[in-house]
Amino acid sequence: MTNTTAKISIGNEAWDLPIKSGTIGPDVIDISKLYGNSKMFTFDPGFTSTAACESKITYIDGDEGVLLYRGYPIEQLALQGDFLETCYLLLYGELPTPAEKQNFDTLVTRHTMVHEQMSRFFSGFRRDAHPMAVCVASVGALAAFYHDSLDITDPHHRLVSSIRLIAKLPTIVAMAYKYTIGQPFVYPKNDLDYTSNFLRMCFSVPCEDYKTDPVLTRALDRIFILHADHEQNASTSTVRLAGSSGANPFACIAAGIACLWGPAHGGANEAALAMLQEIGTPERIPEFVRRAKDKNDPFRLMGFGHRVYKNYDPRAKIMQQTTHEVLKVLGVQDDPLLQVAIELERIALHDEYFIEKKLYPNIDFYSGITLKALGFPTSMFTALFALARTVGWIAQWKEMIEDPSQKIGRPRQLYTGAARRDYVSLDKRG
Ligand code: ACO
Repeated sequence: MTNTTAKISIGNEAWDLPIKSGTIGPDVIDISKLYGNSKMFTFDPGFTSTAACESKITYIDGDEGVLLYRGYPIEQLALQGDFLETCYLLLYGELPTPAEKQNFDTLVTRHTMVHEQMSRFFSGFRRDAHPMAVCVASVGALAAFYHDSLDITDPHHRLVSSIRLIAKLPTIVAMAYKYTIGQPFVYPKNDLDYTSNFLRMCFSVPCEDYKTDPVLTRALDRIFILHADHEQNASTSTVRLAGSSGANPFACIAAGIACLWGPAHGGANEAALAMLQEIGTPERIPEFVRRAKDKNDPFRLMGFGHRVYKNYDPRAKIMQQTTHEVLKVLGVQDDPLLQVAIELERIALHDEYFIEKKLYPNIDFYSGITLKALGFPTSMFTALFALARTVGWIAQWKEMIEDPSQKIGRPRQLYTGAARRDYVSLDKRG
């Protein structure tokens, strides 16, 4: 919808730029014709003022600390729904009816097994491979196993690939874990729900019965809901950019996983836990806070700050509550890491530096403690994030492919390298 126009004047010339409004959130200035008119690009490294697409999936108000999936507040979905319901909502735009939910759960459940040859593919990795390295490779490799759903112009192929990715990611992530600890792969079990099935594939062994605790399963399911989508973050933008060339969805999600791996994005929960371990005791917190504030020290408080949230991350609040529930069930409320985390949060929230820069704890600050308590090693944290974010990536990829105005993503640049110069033969150099 076009509201009104903005005017840009360069020298003696001026152009009107359309202003577009969304349902909620800031308006955008449509600059798509600017280069054609003015022969100038806009410059926005890090995309801090750039809306790269139109989307109906997720809304964030970073100043107010609001996160909505398809209009529904994250708090309501995380506390009242389950992960597969969130997947349905993100993919189709509406909450499912009971019958739709049952069909969707069955559909996902029936796709959880991976091609048997995938297990041989796994055995090519070193045992000490990082699970994210294994996940990037294995998810990309799905394209080599599922040729029958690669035609992105066919809606049925798109649907089958989407369901395959949501269903098989837990199996692949669990296989990556089992492989690194030298235990046999555990096949999915169709009478279990999505999250119980994943926990069983990670923690059961063929020689013993395995039972999941409902509070712990619920906690992990909630972590999946909280991580399911987050509009145009780095990995989602990566998936969209990869997909804009017409690449198949398995390749696009592998690209998203690669981007998520970095410590400034999905790797932050691993880094946050490592930092809490390094701090060790509440007495050492002031030293680390001082380092975080020191301009000459590259150290940052991991799990603090967010590109979009300049208020409390709404997911962090739910995560904090979930952490307490998990530690209570496990009888480890005195966990020293939790004590360090609570004290660090208290100190940072009252510190002038953090207040002024609007640095609040983000979701990663508490999720690491919870995942550790659930039994996952730190190296698995980002892989669990990838598992949960797969549905968001797929929903965003699908939305992009189904948008008739979609074209290949191709940013431009401000070139600051050498101007044109002539080649000098080797014997005349130096
Ligand atoms: N500790 C100390 N200072 C910080 C921190 C931090 N965690 N985060 C930002 N700052 C400071 C910066 O030094 C900068 O100060 P300056 O203005 O004096 O130069 C200012 O706050 C703004 O920081 P930027 O890096 O410019 O903000 P940006 O929006 O680009 O970065 C980011 C956001 C990457 C998340 C950053 O806050 C950070 O590195 N945090 C730690 C890593 C982390 O927790 N990442 C998880 C992100 S959430 C997710 O992926 C699910």
